[in-house]
Amino acid sequence: MRYQATAQAGSNIAFIKYWGNVDDALRLPLTHSLSMTLDTAITTTTVTFDPALTADIFVMNGEPILGEALERVSRHLDHLRGLAGVSWRAKVVSVNAFPTGSGIASSASGFAALTVAAAAALDLDLTRRELSAYARLGSGSAARSIFGGYAELVTGARHEDAYAVQVEPPEHWLLVDVVAIVSKHPKKVGSTGGHKLAHTSPLNSARLAHVQTAIARARTAIHTRDIEMLGHIMELDALTMHAVMMTSSPSLLYWEPGTLTVMHAVRQWREEGIPVYFTIDAGPNVHVITLPEYADDVAERVRALPAVQDLLICRTGPGARVVQ
Ligand code: PMV
Repeated sequence: MRYQATAQAGSNIAFIKYWGNVDDALRLPLTHSLSMTLDTAITTTTVTFDPALTADIFVMNGEPILGEALERVSRHLDHLRGLAGVSWRAKVVSVNAFPTGSGIASSASGFAALTVAAAAALDLDLTRRELSAYARLGSGSAARSIFGGYAELVTGARHEDAYAVQVEPPEHWLLVDVVAIVSKHPKKVGSTGGHKLAHTSPLNSARLAHVQTAIARARTAIHTRDIEMLGHIMELDALTMHAVMMTSSPSLLYWEPGTLTVMHAVRQWREEGIPVYFTIDAGPNVHVITLPEYADDVAERVRALPAVQDLLICRTGPGARVVQ
């Protein structure tokens, strides 16, 4: 048995979002979701199971992490330890190749890399589907980062029924995500807490009724490389998810003034003929999606907006993999 392994995974940006669970403990999403895995927003994680350790240790970007974040990692390792019949504690060393608080979900790349590294260290022979379902237990969106390119997280009534599948590999269609960072403040309510509130919004049922059609349209748009079709459905879905967030109890208002500035700018650039669309996760920063041939121009325009503090450029990337 190998006791140590290192894995890498990219974060992802959802075009059709996951918001709300049918089961919070198992993170069984209320809806299917569909995303693109990113190339530069990467987490690298080494997991070492060691009989000399009395407790799990988690080090992120060189800092020892304690409290709820450590417990979440520990609980995640418990699932895989249970499967392997191993009780040894582990040291988990994780490095994010993107700024924490940049609006890029480090939980997606983090739990995808942790799952793949821990499974390899424990010599578990899991299929990508099984890896994806286990990654979902750590963070729903992590299930999609197991796959490169475009991935759909299908939901179900049991743990083994909720996993991601690849819709298209990365080379099928390269898209660019220019992340406009308008705030670096940590958000008050993270997605784990936010998912629990989806049910309280009177708009949630309307969103649920529309998601299946949205997923089908996004899938077709990706298969046929239709940026206009994808962009339209992506903006609509981001807005309906934020409508649910804003109208939940308590209300979640993730947008900052800079968020709206970027949204308006994107629509203005589109009127000028640039194929550019926005989507926004559970935070104020805006993901500006475009085709590679427009990426430089779009990045320059985003950078020139006074509301934008920083930007990050990501492209369609590969799935989670063992690197050592
Ligand atoms: O995986 P979580 O629990 O961080 O939830 C992700 C939620 C969104 O980023 C807002 C949407 C998504 O599908 O990625």
